Amino acid sequence: MPGGLAFVSGADRVPGSQEEEPIDRDRIDSFNHSLARWYEQNRRRLPWRETREPYPVWLSEVMLQQTRVETVLAYYPRFLSRFPTLEALAQAPLSEALKLWEGMGYYARCRNLHKAARLVMERHSGRFPWSFEEVVALPGIGRSTAGAILSFVHEQRLPVLDGNVQRVLIRLHRIEQDPGRAAVRARLWRLAQEMVDRSHSPGVFNQSMMELGALICTARAPRCSACPVSGHCQAWACGDPSGLPLVKRAKPLPHYDIGVGIIWHEGHVLIQLRPEKGLLGGLWEFPGGKREPGEEIPDTVRREIREELGIEIEVTAPAVVVRHAYSHFKVTLHAFHCHWLSGTPSPRAAQGWCWVKPERTEEYAFPQANRLILEHIRQEGRSGAG
Ligand code: ADE
Repeated sequence: MPGGLAFVSGADRVPGSQEEEPIDRDRIDSFNHSLARWYEQNRRRLPWRETREPYPVWLSEVMLQQTRVETVLAYYPRFLSRFPTLEALAQAPLSEALKLWEGMGYYARCRNLHKAARLVMERHSGRFPWSFEEVVALPGIGRSTAGAILSFVHEQRLPVLDGNVQRVLIRLHRIEQDPGRAAVRARLWRLAQEMVDRSHSPGVFNQSMMELGALICTARAPRCSACPVSGHCQAWACGDPSGLPLVKRAKPLPHYDIGVGIIWHEGHVLIQLRPEKGLLGGLWEFPGGKREPGEEIPDTVRREIREELGIEIEVTAPAVVVRHAYSHFKVTLHAFHCHWLSGTPSPRAAQGWCWVKPERTEEYAFPQANRLILEHIRQEGRSGAG
């Protein structure tokens, strides 16, 4: 049976034990060598791999935290052409950055990036810091992202432990424990550190581990027959790589019905700006809220708009129904055309509001779930509106 990288097999270890695994340096060297050769021949030519400038590398890593490479390939060059430098980003209003992030989701990443750019201007005179401690202190940069940036840019011997690398390590060592546990995470960090310590190039090593996870050691249907390091893999030796990592059965996401008002007044619709902090912070939306038990949706819309904005409306016609899943819950948005009756909006929670012509809504950043509503009002104009 081919050996793993450590003498003590993952399957034999006491769950959560802190015992140190002896390091087999020859095995690690052989693994690193095979991986490096494979990476050289198989790596994707991705634009952020063509630079060693910290700002574009940082931007790509933040985008890639929760977004697929194919999507980032569209957003990354647009963002960089509008904000070619960290300074340009720091000087721009957050709303412009969010507009370029629109549709990618997880908007806290963009708010943190923008905040961090301003902090780098203030604390580090505009130069992205060198030290791990200073980098990891910036908003939106955790240990793994800091390791990625500093290893790619400066060849610092820091490991990366993103989802792809974690999966590779878990299979390599056949770790049959919940990777959410702190002791298991600590072990994975230790294993990643040992490997990066023996690599020729920490940057290339980290990139190649991520690439292996993305192209070969995939979550479902791993391509073990094409794997350059299958001979080192304990999960492969035991015949069940796709059974790892262990996944806890996900609880079904809670679902909410949301009543949304498209409030018309003299050819304009009312939109509001969400508070800066929290879900979808800093994005624009149509006002509305959660349906209460037993409530009819038009009543939800009237109530929410009275409570949130202090205005009276008439609900005139259904407009569109949109289903959307966020990371922790699902929503069905029931959008209704409404007609403004009385009162000046005085938002209770929103940062701001405005009346806008449908064709000018393009200028504002909206959450993905609002896109269908926007398309609807742009196409249908006032149809159905009171
Ligand atoms: N995911 C996270 N970082 C990445 C990178 N540099 N290239 C490809 N996918 C990634």
